[in-house]
Amino acid sequence: MHQATITLDPAFTVAPVRRRTFGAFVEHLGRCVYTGIYEPDHPTADDDGFRRDVLDLTRELGVSTVRYPGGNFVSGYRWEDGIGPKEQRPRRLDLAWHSTETNEVGVDEFVRWCRKAGVEPMMALNLGTRGIAEALDLLEYCNHPSGTALSDLRVANGAKEPHGIRMWCLGNEMDGPWQTGHKTAREYGRLAAETARAMRMVDPALELVACGSSSSSMPTFGAWEAEVLEETYELVDFISCHAYYEEHDGDLGSFLASDTDMQYFISSVVATADHVGARLKSRKRIDISFDEWNVWYQSRFKDAGAPEDWPVAPRLLEDHYHLADAVTFGGLLITLLRNSDRVTAASLAQLVNVIAPIMTEPGGRAWRQTTFHPFAQTSRYASGDVLRVEPVSPLYETKAYGEVPLVHAVATHGEDGTTIFAVNRSMDGPLSLEIDARALGAVRVAEATTMTDPDVYARNTADEPDRVAPRPNPDVEHEPLRVLLPPVSWNVIRLTTP
Ligand code: AHR
Repeated sequence: MHQATITLDPAFTVAPVRRRTFGAFVEHLGRCVYTGIYEPDHPTADDDGFRRDVLDLTRELGVSTVRYPGGNFVSGYRWEDGIGPKEQRPRRLDLAWHSTETNEVGVDEFVRWCRKAGVEPMMALNLGTRGIAEALDLLEYCNHPSGTALSDLRVANGAKEPHGIRMWCLGNEMDGPWQTGHKTAREYGRLAAETARAMRMVDPALELVACGSSSSSMPTFGAWEAEVLEETYELVDFISCHAYYEEHDGDLGSFLASDTDMQYFISSVVATADHVGARLKSRKRIDISFDEWNVWYQSRFKDAGAPEDWPVAPRLLEDHYHLADAVTFGGLLITLLRNSDRVTAASLAQLVNVIAPIMTEPGGRAWRQTTFHPFAQTSRYASGDVLRVEPVSPLYETKAYGEVPLVHAVATHGEDGTTIFAVNRSMDGPLSLEIDARALGAVRVAEATTMTDPDVYARNTADEPDRVAPRPNPDVEHEPLRVLLPPVSWNVIRLTTP
């Protein structure tokens, strides 16, 4: 039997839990928007054409912010196509996903959906095919109260109140050669700086995100962040990180340890940003917006290729997640929380159908993928401060990362109690986790759940939507406090005072 220990002490904190850690992402890609959040003919559709079943699941997921409208899509997008009477909106080629965009949903619909879902909109700007003028136009359209051409147009289109969007992404993955309008770091840095400068003339309080690297394996990783921040340091608040993971060649051990790469990514970007800050003699600190992260079987997408015939809302990137994906996913979420001092915003990519925790059938059912559960539980129970915890755990050997601890964990502590979020990556047996909670005084386990399955590749489907879900963990001992974590499992342990 594997054994590990975790020590909880409220004197050692990382940072407050940031609600924006629990952001998600809606891109005009595949069926994320059409037959995802929006399907006017669906039996649950509301007056605006939004699926109520998806709205309910979005609320249950506990999403805080939603990034929109891309992704790669945004780098060819004309936001004006998506406003005004729907029957007059143009159909356009979407080069990013080789699809046809009908523009039935645009910024006004998206903000209306956000209000219904109770989430904060986060807007991405097209700095691929467009620039400063179009960014300023969109800002004026969205946020200026009234009395100008564009703000009055918004009012005429039915949105009397300004949208009040605080967070803006200055482009998307501009380091990627696949991006429409891809740029060098210097070219992008200059454009991002001048766009930010102009936007701040309208509203100095906006929160602006400069594009970092599309992954830590990009050839320009590190140099890209340094050059972009040299141009933008005093003008932006965040640098972005994007990372996707998948199991390669049946190497489950490495896959379950994907958070090792995420930690390396975060530490490297923090070091790079601080280095630029030091050279500029700036007291300002740049935070990370990890605004695309997930498990994504990108190799399958590359094998299938983009559609050739420009379809509307095709099935693209519809990964069906299994238990091991959800445990890996939970490890990534734990890493984001563990870095809450510098990762102050994040967006799970994406929300519905496209590499998503929520799946839908057109005209039919909606259900929770395995990855839904770690996200929903963490969003629900993480509160107060993130505690600095360093589990003492046995190690195992991985091909990709060398020796890695079997247990990966984080804890939060606040008025609502203390909660431990932990994954057991052991593939050969359970692990007994001893919890040293002496610094908390008298505590008891209010609830312990575990998500596991004899088949690590078990999935949820529309017919069997709850095959993989958190269940009460019966293996809890009180003196000393110990919880048995099944092999390849996601676990939540909630402590309260008796
Ligand atoms: O989330 C899917 C795609 O992944 C996004 O459009 C892009 O930004 C990233 O490469």
